[in-house]
Amino acid sequence: MNTSSPIGVFDSGVGGLSILREIRRDFANEDLLYVADSAFVPYGEKSPRLIEARSVAIAEFLIDRKAKAIVVACNTATGAAISTLRSRYCMPIIGIEPAVKPAVEKTVSGIVAVLATSRTLSSGKFAKLLTRFGDDADILIQPCTGLVEQVETGELQGGKTRDLIEKYLLPLLERGVDTIILGCTHYAFLAPLIREIAGPRVSIVDPAAAIAHELRRRLEGNNLLSPDPRSGKEAFWTSGEPDDVRPVVSQLWKADVEVGRLPKRYC
Ligand code: DGL
Repeated sequence: MNTSSPIGVFDSGVGGLSILREIRRDFANEDLLYVADSAFVPYGEKSPRLIEARSVAIAEFLIDRKAKAIVVACNTATGAAISTLRSRYCMPIIGIEPAVKPAVEKTVSGIVAVLATSRTLSSGKFAKLLTRFGDDADILIQPCTGLVEQVETGELQGGKTRDLIEKYLLPLLERGVDTIILGCTHYAFLAPLIREIAGPRVSIVDPAAAIAHELRRRLEGNNLLSPDPRSGKEAFWTSGEPDDVRPVVSQLWKADVEVGRLPKRYC
């Protein structure tokens, strides 16, 4: 790998495109590889062992494609697999976790909600995060079963999605929450609906920009930033059925894209 090698990004499905979008915004000239592990989505309902095995298989694929850095664009996979990935591979590996610290700094009511998968919320990594940064506010945790599936089918605004968000959000708002942490990369695509339901006085904290920032810091530190002035390209893969996944990737990426089938040995 060298400065012109691509950056690899993966998630259980299409949620990590919210991180890829931010990376593209910040790195116009880098080539980006994206893997949606659609055959195994949602990770939130899978065992940590399986998520770890899937993360390693996808990392191997990205490394075989010469990735110079890997972004785990998934809170659930970060919780289950980031230490294993970092112990196996020596390139920069950037993970994502619920942005508790910025939310605690932001809240005025002192009541913050974390929306995430139940797997993220029950991980040891999240418990440590709460111990470290959660003392100065009341942190209410809310697993949001079903929301990942809505994003996977491109249902960002429909009645079922709205019903689910209302079911999860209204009790939190009644308890005085004024800051909501999006603790799952899929939920970034639901931010407009969450904002509409929560109202303008509630802040929504999405860590995507911070991840792109951290990626720049790590690439710079390792002299891996591409000096190439040309525009970077994206390439997409899925472990699921490319014909099923392509329309949703195109919808969320706002462009007609090709999605390749992840070779069997990585599935
Ligand atoms: N987008 C993921 C996350 O950030 C995974 C959700 C899932 O597959 O359950 O946690």
